[in-house]
Amino acid sequence: MSANEERLQKVIAHSGITSRRKAEKLIEQGRVKVNGTTVTTLGFKVTKDDKIEVDHVPITKEKPVYYLIYKPRGVISSVKDDKGRKVVTDLIPHIDERVYPVGRLDYDTSGLILLTNDGELAQLLMHPSHQIDKVYIAKLEGVPTKTALSQLKKGIQSNGERLKAVNVIIQSVDQQKQTSIVEVTLHEGKNRQVRRMFESINLPVQKLKRERYGFLNLNGLQSGDYRELTPHEVKQLRAEALKNK
Ligand code: URA
Repeated sequence: MSANEERLQKVIAHSGITSRRKAEKLIEQGRVKVNGTTVTTLGFKVTKDDKIEVDHVPITKEKPVYYLIYKPRGVISSVKDDKGRKVVTDLIPHIDERVYPVGRLDYDTSGLILLTNDGELAQLLMHPSHQIDKVYIAKLEGVPTKTALSQLKKGIQSNGERLKAVNVIIQSVDQQKQTSIVEVTLHEGKNRQVRRMFESINLPVQKLKRERYGFLNLNGLQSGDYRELTPHEVKQLRAEALKNK
């Protein structure tokens, strides 16, 4: 492959419209044209002068952008919602690029979420084998026992799925109200994982916030705020995702 050639699926993923894997599917499904001709070969090489269309719409290679958002509760971590509820992209006004959330946070969960149009980095970060630390603070109804904590670290079964915490630490206990605050570190990002893990040991989560994603935290931000990542942070994030590959 010469220096200015790139694989078709990579160029599609970089345009921000989808992930690399889904781009491969689009190619196989015959939905991609290069210079007017349908291409169904994975690994087909293109240069920046080639005109690429997906479903008859030309893709444009956007400048990659990376945002860190402090999502409030009551906002959907998606780019649109059928029920017209507020979505994370509403928190960044005047943005021209088509950005997508990296993973998701529940409607009722607040905290750190990344948005980007860099499909390749997003896929890297979301893959559980890359072991990015995701750190949550949960307020629980009840107080976990030592046995319960080690159960969560060993892994529990929930709806046929194994859910495992990397670490769980009790931060404080309110004996009177019988509630506790715990810090939970996950590498996985399964649907409603923290809530399901604590439900399985009969300690419902009353409040949940993601405080950290890899080395990134919410310092200096208020709920609803956002900021762009620095080029150095993007580099560090990519290195963190690749270190366990
Ligand atoms: N775990 C949950 O239960 N919810 C989230 O939003 C994130 C992790």
